[in-house]
This record gives sequence, structure tokens and C-alpha cells, in this order.
Amino acid sequence: MADWEELEQRCLSCQRCALADTRTHVVFGAGQRDAEVMFVGEGPGEQEDLQGEPFVGRGGQLLDEMLSLIGLYRDKNFYIANIVKCRPPRNRDPLNTEQDACIGYLREQIALLRPKLIVCLGRIAANRLIHDDYKITREHGQWVERNGVCYTAIYHPAALLRDPGKRPETFADLRSIRARIRQVCDHTY
Ligand code: URA
Repeated sequence: MADWEELEQRCLSCQRCALADTRTHVVFGAGQRDAEVMFVGEGPGEQEDLQGEPFVGRGGQLLDEMLSLIGLYRDKNFYIANIVKCRPPRNRDPLNTEQDACIGYLREQIALLRPKLIVCLGRIAANRLIHDDYKITREHGQWVERNGVCYTAIYHPAALLRDPGKRPETFADLRSIRARIRQVCDHTY
């Protein structure tokens, strides 16, 4: 199996799909490579493409603020990555072909990290990692367990910026994530 450095180098020079032609940076992932908790978004936006880090734009700031409320910090106890590692032009949804080309990197990241808990940020990540007709409005906050890993999804932070009315439901989901972390994780949060 690859190690983190080898995987990252391979990903940074990837040419598996056309997003390689328009990217500024590959956004591999960030956070702790021994974390028990992993967050997965859909793909880099403008700021992420410029800086090479996931979730550093307005949505990312909101996400960091929300996660700090349940004791989660990317420089301390979680890892964060995306389904596709390069920005889709004009922030359109990543195409299935682009997701197919890229998903192997995320699978390898998951295999190296071996998280206890994976939280999908938004529908696209949930479609890929939980099931393929996932309805985020109906299913967010629900848990499924597969191969010893607990999966859930919450609204994407961009959706919370667009529609603050969704925030109370997301705070309930965050409380459920905190409770699940306390059940299944070894470290204290
Ligand atoms: N949206 C995502 O899904 N991922 C990012 O990294 C940034 C915005």
C-alpha cells in the first residue's frame, strides 16, 4: 500500500481528467493523517484552487467555526478532503467521469487514515460514499455503518450560506456527530 507522501505526490501530478488543464493547484487534503474523524466535500472552489487547501473560502470558514463548537479542529483532530481534487470550472458539480477518475485517491486516503467516522459534506459526497440516490434534505444526520466505519452527511457549508434556515438542523446533526464520536472514538474531544 502507498504511504501518504507517495500518494500525495502521485495526486499532485495527476492528469487523469480534463480538470488538470484548468487547475491552479491540486487540493489533496488537509488535517491530521492519524485522525479518527474524516470530512469529505465535493471539490475545490476558487479559493481552494488558489491556495491548494480544502475548505478555505467563506464556506470553509463557516465549517471551521461550526466544527470548533464540537471540539473539532483541522490542526488537531480531523482530516478533510474532497471527492475530486481539482476545481471544476465555475464551480459546477463535478461530472461523473471526473469523479470516477479521481475517487481512487480518496479511497486510498481512507485506507491510509482508517477513520472511525466519515462525515459527507453535501449531496455529491453522500451520493458517492453512502448511496447513489442520497437525498440530503431527507437523509442528512442519519447514520449508516459499513465495514466498521460510521457514515453520515450534513448540508454543505455553501448551502448553509445560501439558506441560513438550514442551520438549526445542521446544529442538531453536529450534536449527533459529537455523541457518535464519544461512542466510537478512542481520543477525547
Ligand atoms: N467546497 C467543497 O466541496 N470543497 C472544498 O474544498 C471547498 C468548497
